[in-house]
Amino acid sequence: MTQHALQSPRDILVTSALPYANGPIHLGHLLEYIQTDIWVRYQKMRGEHCVYVCADDAHGTAIMLRAQREGITSEQLIDRVNAEHRQDFAGFLVNFDNYYSTHSEENRKYSEYIYRQLRKNGHIATRMITQAYDPEKNLFLADRFIKGTCPKCKSEDQYGDNCEVCGATYTPMELINPRSAISGATPVEKDSEHYFFKLPEFDEFLREWTRSGTLQPQVANKLAEWLDAGLQEWDISRDAPYFGFEIPDAPGKYFYVWLDAPIGYLASFRNLCERREDLDFDQFWKPDSKAEVYHFIGKDIINFHALFWPAMLHSAGFRTPTAVYAHGFVTVNGKKMSKSRGTFIMARTYLDHLDPEYLRYYFAAKLTSHVDDLDLNLEDFALRVNSDLVGKVVNIASRTAGFISKKFDGRLANRCTEEALLQRFVDQGDEIADCYEKREFGRAMRLIMELADAANQYVNDQQPWVLAKQPEQSENVQLVCTNALNMFRLLMTYLAPVLPTTAEKTEAFLAQPLDWNGRATMLVDHSINRFEPMMARVDMKQIEAMTEASREEMSAAMGEPAAKPAADIEPVADEIEYDDFARLDLRVARILKAEHVEGADKLLRLTLDIGSGTRNVFAGIKSAYQPEALEGKLTVMIANLKPRKMKFGLSEGMVLAAGPGGKDIWLLEPHDGAQPGMRIR
Ligand code: 2FM
Ligand code: ZN
Repeated sequence: MTQHALQSPRDILVTSALPYANGPIHLGHLLEYIQTDIWVRYQKMRGEHCVYVCADDAHGTAIMLRAQREGITSEQLIDRVNAEHRQDFAGFLVNFDNYYSTHSEENRKYSEYIYRQLRKNGHIATRMITQAYDPEKNLFLADRFIKGTCPKCKSEDQYGDNCEVCGATYTPMELINPRSAISGATPVEKDSEHYFFKLPEFDEFLREWTRSGTLQPQVANKLAEWLDAGLQEWDISRDAPYFGFEIPDAPGKYFYVWLDAPIGYLASFRNLCERREDLDFDQFWKPDSKAEVYHFIGKDIINFHALFWPAMLHSAGFRTPTAVYAHGFVTVNGKKMSKSRGTFIMARTYLDHLDPEYLRYYFAAKLTSHVDDLDLNLEDFALRVNSDLVGKVVNIASRTAGFISKKFDGRLANRCTEEALLQRFVDQGDEIADCYEKREFGRAMRLIMELADAANQYVNDQQPWVLAKQPEQSENVQLVCTNALNMFRLLMTYLAPVLPTTAEKTEAFLAQPLDWNGRATMLVDHSINRFEPMMARVDMKQIEAMTEASREEMSAAMGEPAAKPAADIEPVADEIEYDDFARLDLRVARILKAEHVEGADKLLRLTLDIGSGTRNVFAGIKSAYQPEALEGKLTVMIANLKPRKMKFGLSEGMVLAAGPGGKDIWLLEPHDGAQPGMRIR
């Protein structure tokens, strides 16, 4: 902290990584946005001049292909996802000063500018490379878009760069029977000219930069390993068709998405500068700027932020980041998030069942400044939120506020009497501040909870409810409650970066803003408002409902085709023999009844007439259809699927539908004239 002590307020620009614009935000993403948001809110509360920008990462092959699959333009896809992302982040109280898109004019301008600078400085090379090419789709295939049989162990269906079964690494063309995961066609080899950023020329600069306190020790060590192994030139071009920015003077060549993604930080900030008079782009980004720039990222994208990005900025004549802070991955109940276990939880699904502040607190309580993974243990989550926030913090106010409003007309005493204890609360603020600054949020939460314990102990010892029965103790009741409510005020001041909504409710209740820097002034001789319940307890049932909804959403296989999550691409299924197809008993069915299923977010219960009788089928199509609209319709079902026991009953088959999910699911409807029971062939 000392390095910043001279300048006050500090100018601070903060970013989180830009999420891809091809899928929804899930809890794995949220760790980073919550971590960053807490840090930013803390800085703002301390009076620093701090802004937080982000954007969607809108370019690349995956986005282009997804839009094609959905039958819309890439622009339509990224606009829709941008709106969804904004909603999800707002739902978790992540308060960006600007949320933009890399598909913007500002980003085009800065990408071109930086590229031209690199070229002028001799940092761009061009050469021909040979790559796999899909002759049907007419596009070059990245390794992960090619599948085939492992040349070593002969396992089928392995990706183009390594075998998940035996661990062998190879080039895609070494696969036996390689095929494009997009069209199924056999790839051919094709030459094309590519543009490279000459990273090895920055070896010395990067050795210096990565050792100058810009990185966490663990990350700096990793970087030293990479640097010792020798840097490679970085391929920054992709051939058309590609959704992105065309490279100047190189028709048909586009910037690789990872070239313009971090430049999106500049573009989003620039866009914000246009409407904020207090922000001057150059003052933040000139080489000798006194402003601070921080990037919060996940540990999987360190190379982009700690090698390519500082080198690009340096060559192009911009300042480099003050620091890059990497965090680990989220696990749930000790394991990787899993679709079948229902622990791959989308932001929206969480918000349908639980309060965002619970997660903000839980993440805060477990976050450190290190790169370690963080486990969201759902039982521990409920226990900790209930015991710390509801049982300790809010409890202090709910135990004491009533006396002030009932007996003293809402008026606090004209002084506090527990000077020593209250002074301890005030003094601890410095250490808590230091923890926030250093991203040791877990330690900050522990210090706050120790104070909460002390406050509850104080109320227990004083027993205002006993004093309240003795008329001569009336003044004491007011003093004890005034002391306790000041302790509560201080606790909520320290928790405000984590719990913005509860902090607002506290401000309304105390009729006074929570002010970190002015916290030493006690709230006395002041009217407060009636205490309203501030936070409900978490019920394990809500958590179960959330995981069940996640499971359903993911395996809404019942009638729903594409799983919704961000999978880059749906691989083409393996070919089957005609006999395999003939084994499917596909029948025309009439929907006799369609009903909501209590407790299921995605499912409708369908009663189907298939001529020879009726079938009960659960279909994951509730997001797209009102049940009434379905009754009487014809559709197609797989009639010989083994019945499956689901939480809500037995499902005796599947109906066929198509579409990306959400409102866009279309049930297959045969022409009139088809009759229930007719076999599809
Ligand atoms: O890994 C990702 O999800 C990328 N979309 C992050 C980009 S961060 C920045 F460089 F834009
Ligand atoms: Zn193998």
